[in-house]
Amino acid sequence: MICVPIVGPTQAQALIDIAEARSLADFLELRLDLIADFDLQVLLKNAESKVIVTYRPAREGGQCTLSDEERVKILLDALRLGATYIDVEWDAFHLIPPSSQESVIISRHFFHEFPENLEEIIESLSQLNAKITKLAVKVSELAQNARLFHALKNKKKPLILLGMGEEGLISRICSRVFGGFLTFASLSKGKESAAGQISVEELLHRFRFRSHNQDTKLYGVVANPVTHSLSPDIHNAGFGELGFNGLYVPLKVNNYQLFMQELAPFFSGFSITIPHKENLFRYAKAPSDLLKQIGALNTLTAIGHGEWEGKNTDILAAIAALEEVIVDRSLKDKTVLVLGAGGASRAIVIGLLKAGAKVTITNRTASKGKTLANEINVPFISLEDIHLMEALPYQVIINTTSVGMMPNVEESPLPGVRFHKGQVIFDAIYNPAKTQLILHALKDGATCLTGREMFVKQGALQFERWVQKPAPIELFHKILDKKLG
Ligand code: ATR
Repeated sequence: MICVPIVGPTQAQALIDIAEARSLADFLELRLDLIADFDLQVLLKNAESKVIVTYRPAREGGQCTLSDEERVKILLDALRLGATYIDVEWDAFHLIPPSSQESVIISRHFFHEFPENLEEIIESLSQLNAKITKLAVKVSELAQNARLFHALKNKKKPLILLGMGEEGLISRICSRVFGGFLTFASLSKGKESAAGQISVEELLHRFRFRSHNQDTKLYGVVANPVTHSLSPDIHNAGFGELGFNGLYVPLKVNNYQLFMQELAPFFSGFSITIPHKENLFRYAKAPSDLLKQIGALNTLTAIGHGEWEGKNTDILAAIAALEEVIVDRSLKDKTVLVLGAGGASRAIVIGLLKAGAKVTITNRTASKGKTLANEINVPFISLEDIHLMEALPYQVIINTTSVGMMPNVEESPLPGVRFHKGQVIFDAIYNPAKTQLILHALKDGATCLTGREMFVKQGALQFERWVQKPAPIELFHKILDKKLG
């Protein structure tokens, strides 16, 4: 269930927010300590839905300055006026008469740390006569969510267990999957009642909260940073479109070993991106020769017994897409120029060589370009030499550099170069959808593959591995176009 906190700061604003939140939430929480001039009776009358009344003292992160006795008196009034539950802090519970204890959510907060004895604390709170136990703890390492998930799975009575901070976000999103009594979500950005609280809109639409249950399979994108990843948007929408019982979350992984050991066992698959593509390669069981040569992957899929199958769908997608448009539909013996000498370049060159292409590398920093060219035994040509040519004698040209990427959309890695019909130009940049390089190449009549198409294709290959059905590619494009323009 979803509970939206009503945080004032005035009675008038609280009434406006209640009217908006009623249709979105299962519960509303009236945070009396944050509503300056509250009239409890009016608030409860307007709430209509199920209501939790909370009057949080400063010592538990709230703003109420009354004595515990005075606070509890108001909370008991709230029950008489029709509140469903009152939230009572663990150290004030003794003030609640037995007749009202059945309507209590007993709560405890750790704003600055993840308590070492989490399970003991839950156990001792659960032994009291309150109906529901609530614990909110600061999560500073993603793997700590595993302790929250285990505790939720092992609960003996209704439990609300949430991680605060960015690293705790997944505990809020996955609440239903692990049988949490409810999760809190803000009515909108800026109306959070705790750090890291997600908005109700994002929870309902981006993460499809209403569709989750305890059989929902978990997936995620392993990255750092991860906030701007669009993978959750496309995969969750795809799961919804195909009626697949899955949930895909952002995973901001710092310590990848700890992550793989503690948290990964709850998941069925991952997308992997910067900076973990090389780090997680070692977890792939029996990697293909191609994968071994690349030494980096972007997909792990659980295959049972704690084992993972690894794939690099970036490269599989790029090679397949190139072969779809190239003459004879084969890269064998085709001449290819690759711009850039970073990890992306290295991986695609290995894929191209495996497909039989004749590859040449160019790079701004010649020393870096030569080092890579020597390592994989292909020729290097300097950018200066490239610019001396009027037309480039390559059948395929691939840009793996960031030149032309948002916000520098006016730049091109090959300014002034002429392209021609029959040539294939692939730019790995996916924002903007059409880079200067692609626009020039299209104008000259070349065949173009955009990074946007490739992003969708690599995601589609992951999706198809997990869902075992064709991915809704049009939907993926629509979502990216809407988000990125
Ligand atoms: P990735 O792992 O995505 O390949 P990377 O390892 O940072 O990223 O590599 C970035 C590539 O883009 C490099 O080849 C880099 O050239 P240098 O080796 O000269 O740094 C290239 N690149 C980045 N910005 C560039 C620019 N403004 N002009 C030309 N090349 C650029």
